[in-house]
Amino acid sequence: VFILGLETSCDETSAAVVEDDRRILSSVVASQADLHAKWGGVVPEVASRMHVERTLPVIIEALEQARCTPEDLAGIAVTNRPGLVGALVVGVACAKALAYAWRKPLIGVHHLVGHVHAAPLADRWLSFPFLCLVVSGGHTELIVAEGPDSFYCVGRTRDDAAGECFDKAARLLGLPYPGGPALERLAREGNREAVSFPRAWLQHSLDFSFSGLKTAVARYVARPDPSVTQADIAASLQAAIVDVLVTKTILAAEATGIRKVAIAGGVAANETLASEFRAACKAKGYDATVPPKELCTDNAAMIAAAAYRRLRRGEADDLNLDVVATEYLPLRSVK
Ligand SMILES: Nc1ncnc2c1ncn2[C@@H]1O[C@H](COP(=O)(O)OP(=O)(O)OP(=O)(O)O)[C@@H](O)[C@H]1O
Ligand SMILES: [Mg+2]
Repeated sequence: VFILGLETSCDETSAAVVEDDRRILSSVVASQADLHAKWGGVVPEVASRMHVERTLPVIIEALEQARCTPEDLAGIAVTNRPGLVGALVVGVACAKALAYAWRKPLIGVHHLVGHVHAAPLADRWLSFPFLCLVVSGGHTELIVAEGPDSFYCVGRTRDDAAGECFDKAARLLGLPYPGGPALERLAREGNREAVSFPRAWLQHSLDFSFSGLKTAVARYVARPDPSVTQADIAASLQAAIVDVLVTKTILAAEATGIRKVAIAGGVAANETLASEFRAACKAKGYDATVPPKELCTDNAAMIAAAAYRRLRRGEADDLNLDVVATEYLPLRSVK
């Protein structure tokens, strides 16, 4: 079945048409990164206003690229939680209006469950259960995708997300927004062993903590060592983040006994993370799924895919569907 997905939870306005939860027919993403760059971060009010301008053109483009008409659609999926409330409201209001006008079922999707669906979209043979590290601007979570309707978390960050750490460190290094990709480019020229930044292992827990690392970078930048370059600092920071992310993901796979492991979310676009994650999975004999970059950062294809099972069962949300700023997936302790 064909599903129209909509995503407006942060600073990407995106629409996509997906067949079931496996095949992308079109995926259109209008990023606002350039508009927020001069402020050094996402300005919620600016994001909402841009979504208002761009949502309909992006939907029309997605339908055209997929050569779809509204009659071809089985339903409309939209991110309704968690995210910037003013941004979410735009996508949800638009999805409701279209669902009502076109008489289609409406499905509200949890953004992180959406990120997890980048994995089955990237690997059409991937079956449940699998483990997914969702690592993005606002989240760092180890999620068990037990079945198509069952997602729980076995570890998450206690403070900053890994993406936030990339972004804040990039700012301290004077790099432009968004910081993650800029820091990755700079790190290519650096020595990852130049600075030994701390790793918060949080023994006996699958949780993460990145706020200490951010502080360590701030302290280091305030009193730099003249023999260490900006690129060295970037490479050393990236190594510290990747080290913790990969090690803990493997620990989670061991603790849960799940041998199929994926990464998703914006930070999964980082090539050092992707290659170290693949190598660590290979050493353990696990199947590794690393979606292409455009499926890791925010997109509506993953949102459409996440709605497939509920749609197929004939379920739908009503037009009272609301937006939610913060909603965590259930936590289960496995260690
Ligand atoms: N190549 C990269 N290396 C490191 N970090 C990256 C890279 N590309 C993107 N990022 C980071 O990914 C984050 C954006 O990811 P994404 O779009 O999934 O987040 P978000 O939607 O804002 O947050 P969330 O999904 O938690 O609500 C930013 O922190 C950005 O710096
Ligand atoms: Mg996201």
